[in-house]
Amino acid sequence: MIGDRLSQAMNEQIKNELESYYIYLSMSAYFHSLSLDGMGHWMRCQAHEEMIHAMKFFDHLVDRGGKVELLNLQQLKTDWSSPAEAFQDAYQHEQFITGKINELTTIAREEKDYASEPLLAWFSDEQIEEEASTGKIADEMTMIGDDKSALLMLDRELAARAFPAGSPLDPLAYKAE
Ligand code: FEO
Repeated sequence: MIGDRLSQAMNEQIKNELESYYIYLSMSAYFHSLSLDGMGHWMRCQAHEEMIHAMKFFDHLVDRGGKVELLNLQQLKTDWSSPAEAFQDAYQHEQFITGKINELTTIAREEKDYASEPLLAWFSDEQIEEEASTGKIADEMTMIGDDKSALLMLDRELAARAFPAGSPLDPLAYKAE
């Protein structure tokens, strides 16, 4: 059975992941409003991943006799001054989440909660990927500057990101219904 301290920290992390979901969905709406639909799609795929992350902690708590407590989500930023600023925010947000995963790992070690090690190791690996992907696009945005053609080329490139099979955020999953 999971202890109270780690259980509470994981509930906080469910909130962080759901807020991540909300942020990326908000960024998706922002990009669609600029007709940068490839970026809107990329952010929608990212939002999907965040919901999965929240559910991984949710399931871990359920499986280990912890209590899932869904905390209030904060009202987060809903507008950006440029596509570059949005991706820079995404990169910074991923660094914030990496810090939270590190804190969880520290708590798990202090509590000698060995059963959570595989889950937290998975998240540490995942954060390397999340920082790399958002950081790379943020860098590319800086290189693009005011070049609209280059921005459209990147938009086309990001449109190619694939939804995981069965994602409820994939329009193909619900538009036929
Ligand atoms: Fe769940 Fe993007 O960190």
